[in-house]
Amino acid sequence: MATAEQLKMLIKSHFDNNNDRFKTIVLQLAAHEAKQGHTALAREIRELIDKSKAASNKVIPFNKDLNDLIYSTVSGRKLSDLVVSDDIKARIERILREFRQRDRLKKHGFNNRRKILLSGPPGTGKTMTASILAGELHLPFCTILMDKLVTKYMGETSAKLRQIFEIIRDNQAVYLFDEFDAIGSERGLDNDVGEMRRVLNAFLQFIEQDDSHSLIVSATNSVKLLDQALFRRFDDILCYDYPTESDVRRLIANRLSGFNKFGSVELNEITGWALTLSHAEITRACDDAIKEAILNDLENVTTEQLLKTLEERKSAYNRGEN
Ligand SMILES: Nc1ncnc2c1ncn2[C@@H]1O[C@H](COP(=O)(O)OP(=O)(O)OP(=O)(O)O)[C@@H](O)[C@H]1O
Ligand SMILES: [Mg+2]
Repeated sequence: MATAEQLKMLIKSHFDNNNDRFKTIVLQLAAHEAKQGHTALAREIRELIDKSKAASNKVIPFNKDLNDLIYSTVSGRKLSDLVVSDDIKARIERILREFRQRDRLKKHGFNNRRKILLSGPPGTGKTMTASILAGELHLPFCTILMDKLVTKYMGETSAKLRQIFEIIRDNQAVYLFDEFDAIGSERGLDNDVGEMRRVLNAFLQFIEQDDSHSLIVSATNSVKLLDQALFRRFDDILCYDYPTESDVRRLIANRLSGFNKFGSVELNEITGWALTLSHAEITRACDDAIKEAILNDLENVTTEQLLKTLEERKSAYNRGEN
């Protein structure tokens, strides 16, 4: 058992928010238990600490006043899960490669590409790409909610942006400015408001000045809406699109592979049906069909089931369009 002194120190370090001290005391406790012959308990305690280290290395705690604008998660996503054209895949690989060898580039006076713009229709893999960059590079993944920044903090958006760019400078991570259109639309448009112009100008300035070690990714549904001045601030622009026929096949095969036996679904029959749906919708239809199979005690998803769930997504989609 822990001594009274150790317990008091544990409680104190918790309330002092002193994580390092807390962990040191816990490790001392583990050593103490091991000495007493309680080896299983000692091992369990050490494992708990190891786990918390792995997680805390990756999540960034933010100031309370930024909590609703930015959040940090851990990403375990891999590039192999992403179904995109060879061109986009090669560009993502280049971002990863340049990041991993940034010191080599630096020696020759070059920076790795780290300000990236992703554009494309909803559900085609933009957010997923940002999360993959974090997963592959073992960096925390932080999302900044641009629409919230603009709607909730009217009048103080530039100040908030400054705080966010300070975080980017001080904490190496992948930062996704999601729903970037919220500020990125052409400054000359009729519905433009002064505040929006100021925010966009501030963003342009911050992104230009940024020389951090973080990756900054912005995602938008329409590159056409964006201000031309933005483009030259980005090192790379990746344009996503709806899946092609071979993408659809790969997507369905990948998604079902964890559940279905190979070949139990007629991909030829399904592919045509799924065209016009986004990657996200096809993924959902696969998941719905798998869930249905599980609840009906079936070993495999059948072609009919998948056609049904795809059809459901399609009709929902068409209704949404009208
Ligand atoms: N290219 C893709 N390859 C594999 N899976 C995908 C792809 N695109 C989307 N998905 C699946 O759909 C989910 C949602 O996609 P994601 O959030 O990346 O879309 P998005 O392009 O960011 O859409 P939005 O513009 O609405 O934000 C992903 O988590 C993934 O499961
Ligand atoms: Mg997204």
